[in-house]
Amino acid sequence: MTKQNEALRIGIIGIGNMGSSHASRLWDGEVKEARLAAVCDINPERLSWAESRFGAEVERFADADSLYTSGSIDAVVIATPHYSHPELAIQAFEHGLHVLVEKPAGVYTKQVRLMNEAAARSDKKFAIMYNQRTNPLYRKLKDLIKSGELGEIRRTNWIITNWYRSQSYYNSGGWRATWSGEGGGVLINQDPHQLDLWQWTTGLMPVRVRAFCGFGKWRDIEVEDEVTAYVEYANGATGLFVTTTGEAPGTNRFEIAGDRGKIVIENGRLTFWRLRVPESEFNRTYTGGFGEPECWTCEIPVSGTESGHLGILQNFTDAILHDAPLIAPGEEGIKGLSISNAIHLSAWTDNWAELPVDEEKYYELLQERIRESKFVKPEGSDRTLSVEGTH
Ligand SMILES: NC(=O)c1ccc[n+]([C@@H]2O[C@H](COP(=O)([O-])OP(=O)(O)OC[C@H]3O[C@@H](n4cnc5c(N)ncnc54)[C@H](O)[C@@H]3O)[C@@H](O)[C@H]2O)c1
Repeated sequence: MTKQNEALRIGIIGIGNMGSSHASRLWDGEVKEARLAAVCDINPERLSWAESRFGAEVERFADADSLYTSGSIDAVVIATPHYSHPELAIQAFEHGLHVLVEKPAGVYTKQVRLMNEAAARSDKKFAIMYNQRTNPLYRKLKDLIKSGELGEIRRTNWIITNWYRSQSYYNSGGWRATWSGEGGGVLINQDPHQLDLWQWTTGLMPVRVRAFCGFGKWRDIEVEDEVTAYVEYANGATGLFVTTTGEAPGTNRFEIAGDRGKIVIENGRLTFWRLRVPESEFNRTYTGGFGEPECWTCEIPVSGTESGHLGILQNFTDAILHDAPLIAPGEEGIKGLSISNAIHLSAWTDNWAELPVDEEKYYELLQERIRESKFVKPEGSDRTLSVEGTH
């Protein structure tokens, strides 16, 4: 640990849209007891940007190896395109660094499992940027489910169609929305947050999935921009996940039905339709023919604000310096990715996909798409966008 400023020295790899935002927060002193010590990017233009933004005090590196061997940092934030997350994280652990990896954990579970094994071998902290886990609405939902207020879950239903992305967004990065550069579309880029929250809040992972995807249905891309997935859970519950980047205005509605009622999160509110007696009990004891359980509609007060990316950066720092529990342990990144991979696999094979996902088969079919890709991106359209107002 550095003596200078008594602060944790953080390096950022990949100072594009997201990494430059993390770097600026650190530089502006928003993360207590941490400072921006170094940045790394393979694009010289981004390093020139860093020089003009942060001056000489922040070291600049043109590749991860030289950053890792520099001795200038204690921890690294990996904000490069998805495929490189596991590889860069594994190297960082081998160099004795703490790691905060951007979402998604990686593109395919085989690769992410190796990252988790490297984390387990090291004694360093490992976190993932699941910033939406800091949203008090989802925290409250998790609490209500875990404490038994909703009873046993019967159905989950998430319509998340407000990730609108235009063609100009897709054109802004050569790696975006290609099998070789990104490894997927809305599932791998925008939805990792919801796929994580879906399992994190309910405590349920699907056991099998049947999914339908539209590939380049609304945009000139080769990956999925529309998904409808039906899932089944071990307890007999079912779920539905509907998503697209091509629709406006979009919806973000998460509904969970349980034995004791129904909870909906929509428009920044958490509403609980609470049954006076559990449905199973009502059904057992009711003799009146038509009729249904008495129900009270409750607006559940939710306190606190979403600390977002800053909250995760602060929590990562607090975990390293003070052993605070991690909000989003890195090892958990594989869960949402498994659901994402299973959805792809089901759509590709036009069949059910079981979980845990068949990682060899997924890898093989992904490689097939990469090999057979004929997709060409418009030349010279790469540019860095502001992530202000995105999630
Ligand atoms: N948590 C969130 O809310 C959120 C939001 C946006 C993006 N992200 C994630 O952040 C990651 C980056 O997305 P982005 O939109 O910032 O992309 P971007 O293309 O704007 O930036 C990526 C940067 O990484 C650099 N880079 C690529 N490979 C590298 C390597 N091996 N070593 C060093 N630098 C390298 C590129 O030159 C580029 O500057 C993605 O995985 C994305 O999913 C997360």
